[in-house]
Amino acid sequence: MSTQRSRKANDQDANIKKLVKFIENLGSARTVDDVMVRIRAELKNFARVKEPILAFADAHHRLRLTFYQKGSIHEKTVTAGWSRRPDIRFNDVKDSQYLANIFGRPFARLLAIPIRSRRRRSDQKSKADGVLYLEHSLKKEEVATFLKFIEDRVEAMSSALDRLFLEQQLKDSSLMWERTFDSLQDPVAIFGSDGEILRANRAFSEQLANLSVDGLFDETIQHDGREYEVHSYPISVGHTDRPSNTISHYIDVTRSTRLKKQLMQGEKMAALGQLAGHIAHELNNPLTGIRSMAQLLIPQAPEGTNLKSDLIEAEIAAERCQKIITNLREFSTAGFEQKQIRVDLNDIVTKTLSLLNSLTRRFELIVELSSSEVPIFVEPHLTQQVIFNIVKNACEAMTDSGQLVVKTYAAKDNSGESIAAVSIEDSGPGIAPELREKVFEFFFTTKAVGEGTGLGLSMSRSIVERFGGRIEFDSTIGKGTTFRVLLPLEVSE
Ligand SMILES: Nc1ncnc2c1ncn2[C@@H]1O[C@H](COP(=O)(O)OP(=O)(O)OP(=O)(O)O)[C@@H](O)[C@H]1O
Ligand SMILES: [Mg+2]
Repeated sequence: MSTQRSRKANDQDANIKKLVKFIENLGSARTVDDVMVRIRAELKNFARVKEPILAFADAHHRLRLTFYQKGSIHEKTVTAGWSRRPDIRFNDVKDSQYLANIFGRPFARLLAIPIRSRRRRSDQKSKADGVLYLEHSLKKEEVATFLKFIEDRVEAMSSALDRLFLEQQLKDSSLMWERTFDSLQDPVAIFGSDGEILRANRAFSEQLANLSVDGLFDETIQHDGREYEVHSYPISVGHTDRPSNTISHYIDVTRSTRLKKQLMQGEKMAALGQLAGHIAHELNNPLTGIRSMAQLLIPQAPEGTNLKSDLIEAEIAAERCQKIITNLREFSTAGFEQKQIRVDLNDIVTKTLSLLNSLTRRFELIVELSSSEVPIFVEPHLTQQVIFNIVKNACEAMTDSGQLVVKTYAAKDNSGESIAAVSIEDSGPGIAPELREKVFEFFFTTKAVGEGTGLGLSMSRSIVERFGGRIEFDSTIGKGTTFRVLLPLEVSE
């Protein structure tokens, strides 16, 4: 009797050990497949139980079926139709039909063991979250033992699956957070209490990573040719509500700052233009008077006298004044009467060159226009005037012979903006280094009295800046000068 009891006790011990081992094994499972492998191994002792089919509802209430086929694990997801009854079913026709529909083969004898998740809300507790389906050929007398065996293990299986789903949810939400953070176009960084970077998004690493940390807290920062506005907010990362960290958002304001400057520049130029136009109008009449007086008096003055040469000089000076006035008036009116439109820089260059035929004829002219359209958003007549001025300067610099190369192209500037460019290269004497700062000044000229007014480049620069562009040049003494007009490239429609 006592030996019988002790054998029973030994059996019980052995069973508990096996159960503990199984639970331990499940603890090391990292995926649902791992859980399957462990369940299958556990069922090996029951020759009349076939491969397990594990079905478990995922976060989106779809049923994920994991099963063995030809020795390896496969997976299927179905949307509805499974029984969520919380009781163990033995050879239930509905269960057999359900699996037969999914797998396309009959399931004669089926044991359905419901699995319940502890994540479930209390009002839903009566429903199952998954099922372990076992096809079997168990004999009647084996059923009770097997059911006891499997019941002991259901709790452990559902805990393991719960853990895996929670881990997956955590991974998903952290991945979503990371993706969101990284897909922000503006640089964003989170700083710790000592100013160290805790996290930074991709835009931050691409645009600001090599900036020293001290500079990152200013109100605005300039870096790599770009300007950023910095918006910083305190946040608490971790378990306290007390903000210990800072999140900084860097907004690239390069373009809007430039537009603001252009607008201001444009307004200044408009005011200046109006004033210039007004003065020009007022001066033109008295100048015409002086000039015609001089013209009238010149023939009357005796040849070879100082009087005659003074009168001639007065006439030349008055003529020069009128030229300046004509230029100023053109500049002050043209820009306001006409509107900026989308044009091809190639067309503007071609038209301007045709106007300058008589001037360029003396030189070897090479024109290389971009093979595709170079769209810009400008007032065409003013733009023509700019190219006219620069080409005229180049011809005037070369005097009798030389080579003039005119090119158009689209490119990217240092800050990555798309630009349209026209370059005008001459083989003239070049611009002396000490004059390079001065050539854009109003009324700066090296040309003889009566030849140049010194307004060509200064006006050209104002015009180009009004359209958001700039003029630059390279020059080598004795070799020549290349002027480049750079304008924002219009995005194609
Ligand atoms: N391609 C060039 N090569 C050498 N010097 C140049 C060239 N372009 C301009 N310059 C210098 O810059 C000065 C200023 O040019 P800008 O066009 O403003 O006035 P200008 O040609 O003298 O007179 P305006 O154009 O009003 O008739 C010129 O006088 C000349 O000294
Ligand atoms: Mg000029």
